[in-house]
This record gives sequence, C-alpha cells and structure tokens, in this order.
Amino acid sequence: MTVKKRPKHLDLPKIRLPMPGFVSILHRISGAGMFLFLPVLLYLLQLSLGSPESFEDFRAIVAHPLSKLVLLGLLWALLHHLCAGIRFLALDLHLGIGLKQARHSSAAVLVVSLALTLILGVKLW
Ligand code: HEM
Repeated sequence: MTVKKRPKHLDLPKIRLPMPGFVSILHRISGAGMFLFLPVLLYLLQLSLGSPESFEDFRAIVAHPLSKLVLLGLLWALLHHLCAGIRFLALDLHLGIGLKQARHSSAAVLVVSLALTLILGVKLW
C-alpha cells in the first residue's frame, strides 16, 4: 500500500490566509483583547463614578494621547468584533455561506468596522 504524501504548509508566514480567515483571526484577537482590558475599563469606570476628585483623575488619564490610542484600539476591537460577530451569526443561520458572498461579507466587515472606528474615533478624540 502506498502512502499518499500530503502537502504540509506549517510554515505560518508562508500561509496565505483568505480574507474570511483573516476576519476570523481578528475576531478572536479582538474578543481576547477586549476581555483582557476589562479590568482596566472597570477601573476607569470606577474612577469616573467615585467622586468629583476621582473623576478629575479619570479625565487626566483618558486625556493622555497614549490612553486615547489604547481606547481607539479597543473601540476598533469592539466594532470589528460586533460586525464580525453579526456575520458569524448570519453564517450560523446558513446565510451568505457561498464562497463569493463570504468573501464579500468579510471585506464588508473590515471596511465597515474601520470606517465606524474612524467616525467615532474622530468624534471622541
Ligand atoms: C458587541 C457584541 C458582540 C457580538 C455580536 C459578539 C459575537 C460573538 C460571536 C458570534 C462569537 C462566536 C464566534 C465563533 O463562532 O467562533 C464570539 C466569540 C467571542 N467573543 Fe464576542 N461578541 C460581542 C461582544 C464581545 C465582547 C464585549 C467581548 C469581550 C469583552 C467578547 C469576547 C469574545 C471572545 C473572547 C470570543 C471567543 C473568540 C474565539 O475564541 O474565537 N465578545 N463573539
């Protein structure tokens, strides 16, 4: 019996991920990122609600450009995760599962989430 040699593509940098795969990876990264930042966000919430003095501390922290950059990243994470999550739920209902439609919807997730991040980010910065 001959054993068929299957091609192995375990060299990660050489793997060309299709766009739906890219969106899927970003969905996981954004979900994990938001989860990891929950303590920071809860701390900021506590500062903002604690007292007038702690509210001033909160304002000083979020006014720092580095904090704004992190918050912008978290905003993108939420918007990407939201858009990709809705896409996954639609796929679970067997909506848009054709290859062409799946490619289009993954491109739409990337464009819409980046556009919303830009619009909201400019307003909030
Ligand atoms: C904004 C509304 C949200 C929607 C519509 C949504 C939707 C989803 C969906 C559908 C999945 C399952 C994806 C799959 O089938 O593999 C998922 C996974 C996940 N979500 Fe969300 N989610 C939302 C918000 C959040 C938030 C706020 C967090 C974190 C604080 C979060 C963290 C995660 C994580 C860690 C996973 C597992 C990712 C993985 O292992 O691939 N999600 N989400």
